[in-house]
Amino acid sequence: MRRLLFAANWKMQIGPGEARRYAAEFRQRFTPASDRDTWFFPPAVSLEAASAAFQGLENTQIGAQSIYWEVKGAFTGAVSAGLAKAAGARVVLIGHSERRHVFGETEADTARTLRAALHEELVPVLCVGEKLDQREAGETALVVKRQLLAAIAGLSANQLASLVVAYEPVWAIGTGRNATPTDAAAVHTGLRTLLADAGVQGTRILYGGSVNQGNVASLLAEPEIDGVLVGGASLDPVGWATICAGGK
Ligand code: PGA
Repeated sequence: MRRLLFAANWKMQIGPGEARRYAAEFRQRFTPASDRDTWFFPPAVSLEAASAAFQGLENTQIGAQSIYWEVKGAFTGAVSAGLAKAAGARVVLIGHSERRHVFGETEADTARTLRAALHEELVPVLCVGEKLDQREAGETALVVKRQLLAAIAGLSANQLASLVVAYEPVWAIGTGRNATPTDAAAVHTGLRTLLADAGVQGTRILYGGSVNQGNVASLLAEPEIDGVLVGGASLDPVGWATICAGGK
């Protein structure tokens, strides 16, 4: 049985003080349950404040939105896996669509970043997803396959035991449009088959892209959808607590 996972991606929002206020509000509204995890991805400057503010909340982890694969050195503006961990991160997003398409991270960069995360024992959430033109050209399965295999190539099933995958169609992120539960589940099934071919079992596969209180239940009703990665609708602690209380 795969545990449900609710992941909040705050993106470039919510500074340290606001993170403390958010956590206090969320803790009042949300009762942890043994069948689910709640993970928060604050901006790097808020990692430490968020870690402290969510401390002790059962089945909750704090994660970095991005890391740079080098261990240390002259990389102005970058945060290594070790630095993220020192600030409280236990999980990390890898290859989020904004990293790929706004910041120009390549599939090779994603592969290196995944290795850096595993080396520091951060749990990786590998994000994959097709752009609109790729979807319209019928290339969705091909694109997510290429992204997944490029990232995990050369890693053993043992190394990938902690891996979480998030399927986020680029055209659905922050747009108010989302894949139908059936379409998303079909992509998840394809990803699961590829993981099985690589000997990796039990991977949680999340859906992301304009998930909100109105559509989350129908997405989670799909047996192949193990949770959600949410941007916009995770910024309000009250609404997010409601989303985290829903489920199968
Ligand atoms: P959204 O973002 O929920 O605002 O569409 C999802 C994400 O980018 O992870």
